[in-house]
Amino acid sequence: GLKIVTIGGGSSYTPELIEGFIKRHLELPVRELWLVDIEVGKEKLEIVGAMAKRMIKAAGIECDIHLTFDRRQALADADFVTTQFRVGLLDARIKDETIPLRHGMIGQETNGAGGMLKAFRTIPVVLEIVEDMKELCPEAWLINFTNPAGMVTEAVLRYGQWEKVIGLCNVPIIAVKNEAAVADTAEEELFFKFAGINHLHWHKVYDRNGKELTAEIIDKLYGPDAKPEKLVENIKEMRFLSEQIAQLDMLPCPYHRYYYMTDSMLKEELEEAKEEGTRGQVVKRLEESLFELYKDPNLDYKPKELEKRGGAYYSDAACEIINSIYNNKGTRMVVNTRNRGTISDLPYESAIEVTSIITAHGAEPVHFGAFPPAQRGLLQVMKAMEELTVEAAVTGDYATALQAFTLNPLVTSGDAAKAVLDELLEAHREYLPQF
Ligand code: NAD
Ligand code: G6P
Ligand code: MN
Repeated sequence: GLKIVTIGGGSSYTPELIEGFIKRHLELPVRELWLVDIEVGKEKLEIVGAMAKRMIKAAGIECDIHLTFDRRQALADADFVTTQFRVGLLDARIKDETIPLRHGMIGQETNGAGGMLKAFRTIPVVLEIVEDMKELCPEAWLINFTNPAGMVTEAVLRYGQWEKVIGLCNVPIIAVKNEAAVADTAEEELFFKFAGINHLHWHKVYDRNGKELTAEIIDKLYGPDAKPEKLVENIKEMRFLSEQIAQLDMLPCPYHRYYYMTDSMLKEELEEAKEEGTRGQVVKRLEESLFELYKDPNLDYKPKELEKRGGAYYSDAACEIINSIYNNKGTRMVVNTRNRGTISDLPYESAIEVTSIITAHGAEPVHFGAFPPAQRGLLQVMKAMEELTVEAAVTGDYATALQAFTLNPLVTSGDAAKAVLDELLEAHREYLPQF
């Protein structure tokens, strides 16, 4: 049987992970699941751990669930390690959102100044985990969802020198479900070709005869008569400029709104922050009510309410990746993996997010080639920004951090960039030993 370790086990998303293993138990014999957290997460870990045990019992399957603060004990001889932790908890996220906003910039968990700070806090911890894995479970796969998932994957590949890593996001899964419904076809009847980086990818869609449906779906979703629809819970369904999206000739992801519609997204964020708080503040309340539900000793299945979180489906996708690796299934999934020439506009060694075939040896990306100038320009700037951010996260070099801020399109460069960087570094000091 398999031993799985989940770091950040106290997450409210854990019931989806359990459900994913239960669903696949005939193919995927998970016999031990270790949920690892830290002291401050004790209460959450205990609540969610008890619920996980009830779910396993109700399903009548054989799997021991262990709750621990001892990461090294958990990692010993693991087969798969999944990471879903949040360094600094939601209070740190709220700072990432509110501080840039006060400087007149987008304040967001994975984009702009806030996303770069999340990388600075998270990457040193991920690299420590990789060092532990080298010693304790050198054959294991690391399946990472910790954000910013693309930069975390890049750090593991380039600085951790660890090849057996796959990064994961739910945005492509949600787009596929939505577009299959829009095209009035089953998902399996369509072929989706995604390429780009995490939270900044574009895709094309083909039907089973090879006919391209991209332009038709663009028109239905973003054409002049389309009604904007919410795809992920954490991003406002702001209208795109229909001519500009049509010119791309590829479908954008919801996060493109921060780059293509920066003015209206900033205005929207400022209004929302005043009315209901930032997304992190909303999530804090959502999480409290989820944990109230999880405390119910009769609850032994994943409650519907979890869908209010932006990350719906990502834990299930993690189970599918593990299943595809373990059973060498050759499933097609969109993941973060090393470029290896797949996108000719980006460095060979970088992490990209791309349609891939998942087999026993990991992700084999589907060749993409070169982007047209509209995509290429933004993508190359953003990848260079990510390279600098990862380097600054590892070295703690201030000038490199400032350069990353200067390059990021969501940060106003100049004195404003320095001011927001300085305030964020100060606010997060306890989680930034490298600076
Ligand atoms: P959360 O705030 O519930 O944190 C999860 C757990 O991590 C908490 O119980 C916390 O105590 C624990 N933790 C914090 N630091 C830790 C450490 N050093 N070691 C071990 N555990 C630690 O977070 P969440 O809302 O469940 O999100 C978890 C992570 O997943 C975040 O980074 C979030 O951005 C990311 N996420 C990614 C996607 C995706 O598309 N890839 C979707 C949703 C969430
Ligand atoms: C999105 C993303 C995640 C993101 C999350 C936020 O869909 O893919 O990477 O961080 O959901 O969800 P939340 O409910 O925490 O705002
Ligand atoms: Mn994501």
